[in-house]
Amino acid sequence: MQPTPPPTRKDLALAEHVPPGARELAIGGIAAEELAGRFGTPLYVFAAEILRRTLARVRAALGPRVRVLYALKANPNAALARVLRLAGAGAEIASAGEIHVARAAGFAGADMHFAGPGKNHEDFALATATGLGTLNLESEAEYTALAAFARAKGARPGVAVRVNPKDAMAGSRMKMGGGSKKFGVDEPELLPLLRRIRREDVCTLRGLHVYAGTQSFDAAAWAANAGHLVDLANGLERDLGAPLASLNFGGGFGVASFEGDPDFDLERAGAGLQDRIARDARPDRTYWVELGRYLTAPAGVYLTRVVYAKTSQGKRHLILDGGMHQHGAAAGLGSVIRRAFPMVPAREPWRTGAERYTCGGPLCTPADEFAADLLLPELHAGDLLAILVSGAYGLTFSNTMFLSHPAPAEVLVDGGQAWVVRERGRPEDALRGQRLP
Ligand SMILES: Cc1ncc(COP(=O)(O)O)c(C=O)c1O
Repeated sequence: MQPTPPPTRKDLALAEHVPPGARELAIGGIAAEELAGRFGTPLYVFAAEILRRTLARVRAALGPRVRVLYALKANPNAALARVLRLAGAGAEIASAGEIHVARAAGFAGADMHFAGPGKNHEDFALATATGLGTLNLESEAEYTALAAFARAKGARPGVAVRVNPKDAMAGSRMKMGGGSKKFGVDEPELLPLLRRIRREDVCTLRGLHVYAGTQSFDAAAWAANAGHLVDLANGLERDLGAPLASLNFGGGFGVASFEGDPDFDLERAGAGLQDRIARDARPDRTYWVELGRYLTAPAGVYLTRVVYAKTSQGKRHLILDGGMHQHGAAAGLGSVIRRAFPMVPAREPWRTGAERYTCGGPLCTPADEFAADLLLPELHAGDLLAILVSGAYGLTFSNTMFLSHPAPAEVLVDGGQAWVVRERGRPEDALRGQRLP
């Protein structure tokens, strides 16, 4: 007897949306064809139940001492953020715009943490007006600007200092710490800055923050990096003679999007962190983890229809109505090596076909391509395709203005019902804000 082959990435992603043996892709229990028929394509669909289930798993793995923040940059849809808030998450925001989204989603200012290396006066103003919990400072220059703002306005912001760790985190695909970086404050510069914040007494010093990188697949390295922050905080506290009561370990848990990607061992990362916190033995401390991709990616599906099928020099091409202007990550934006996201037909999604297709969108650039030589069943104009694992860094990470196509609609499915949570754009939106002199 032949051994059963291990499940592919596509199988694993499909299992979220199709009960074994079912013939149709469904998101949150509603058939993809029905959703596409009702709301049109291209279309993003998010399943609330998967968001809740994923957050519950993360909270269980990290234990009761760690609070989870949802990093809105992964998907700044307020309805989706609200689902995560109601399921127990706080918010990590990185712009004044994201503060507006977080407020619309019902987050209290105190439950928001603000990161980003280029916060400006407008950001400070909205953050303080919102009563934001913690601003994570990324440089001494930023602190100088914030302190001047706070003095002028009579505000007293809560701040933490983001650390640029001396070593980069192993196993992370995009490193945002270690070496010379625009993010965070180099380790040797931390103590002088912390002393200055204490001495000037304009801001309330809460603690430290670190965010070492995204798409991290090495759970042990992630936990070690978090442990390094605890050690660093304890050493700095002694030198400073003041508490660093809030430690934010960042996020970046990896989500397998491509064939061959490993799984991120959430339970291992959580156990490592819980163990370090237990040894820290500091009941007065608050610990945070801020996650984007891990919370939202599995819940989202991008639906796109075939506009034309054609053959060029013997190769089959599918031209789709969706493209890199709406799902840049699936078209390889930000990746060094282009690989295909799991992509399936909505009808009989398990079926692997005999045709090899190159699948691309309507943009006038060869970069607008989701897959080259993808094995699919015979497809025709009007057929519906689904790109799975699309709930994070989709629309928000795309060059939406290129070729002036309207934005896709976004739909949230919850309890068997579907709501439009972002309206489809219109071609005339291309002129929004433009003026002729
Ligand atoms: C400061 C900060 N926090 C959180 C995140 C979310 O990361 P991820 O979606 O990989 O969890 C990012 C992503 O770039 C970030 O820069």
